[in-house]
Amino acid sequence: MIASAPGKIILFGEHAVVYGRRALVSAIDLRCKVEVRKSVDFRINSPLGTTNLDFKVHPYVSYAIRRFQEIQSLKGAEISIESEIPIASGLGSSSAVTVATLKALSEEFNVNLSDQEIFEIARKVELDVQGRGSGIDPFISTFGGSWIFPDKKKVDLSLELFVIKLWERATKVMVEKVANLRQRYPEIVDKIFDAIDAITLRAVEPGLQMEELIYLNQSLLRAIGVSSAKIDDLVAKLEKEGFFVKITGAGGGGCVFGLFKGKKPENSFLVRTNAEGVRIEDS
Ligand code: MEV
Repeated sequence: MIASAPGKIILFGEHAVVYGRRALVSAIDLRCKVEVRKSVDFRINSPLGTTNLDFKVHPYVSYAIRRFQEIQSLKGAEISIESEIPIASGLGSSSAVTVATLKALSEEFNVNLSDQEIFEIARKVELDVQGRGSGIDPFISTFGGSWIFPDKKKVDLSLELFVIKLWERATKVMVEKVANLRQRYPEIVDKIFDAIDAITLRAVEPGLQMEELIYLNQSLLRAIGVSSAKIDDLVAKLEKEGFFVKITGAGGGGCVFGLFKGKKPENSFLVRTNAEGVRIEDS
């Protein structure tokens, strides 16, 4: 059985969403495809290599299988992964592979999990690997479309965005960095999160000034330490060229994005928002 799930872009609200503030998120038209076949033992094939259950090389898929086994005991499965989503870059590759794996396992072994059940298991997998997280990534990979999260309010958001990929980094490390800052300055960092929450709400009002909100949110992400001198230099250079960009996802690297208005910066690629959630693909 083959399933696929989309990557995502957080337009506004990353990190603040870990502390209950709201974020605006949309599924994008880059997908991860996972094929699952019954087998006598476990084998995971991906661009990262071929392994058995391996919590270092393939943590999300291995934990997805372990969590699935709480529902249905399995002797083995051959899992093959192909992804269009750059890894460790803030575009939701980890959740997409988790959600697509769970959907393909569910169909291959006739368990017929609902999307809500898939989301709930993927959420546990996120916590197994990262220890902390809002659940926004497994949510959007499962359900697709565009949402205010955690309110689970669906919004209509058809946008074309340009994305620049920087370097890879671990979400867990960036989430811990923000947690440390908040521990030292709770009264300051919580106010920054409140301001980010207000940005998310303004973003879904009619007559949205998206680029001003991008500028504001990027400035606040810098304040909480998830930008860097190199990213700040890039943001400043792009602003001089007339592009407003912000980090998307955990930051510290990953990707920056801006609104595509007919012209895109050097070394960027385009994505469309509002993509479909997890689905079965024809074999
Ligand atoms: C990661 O895509 C978004 C973060 O806010 C973490 C999370 O919400 O789980 C940085």
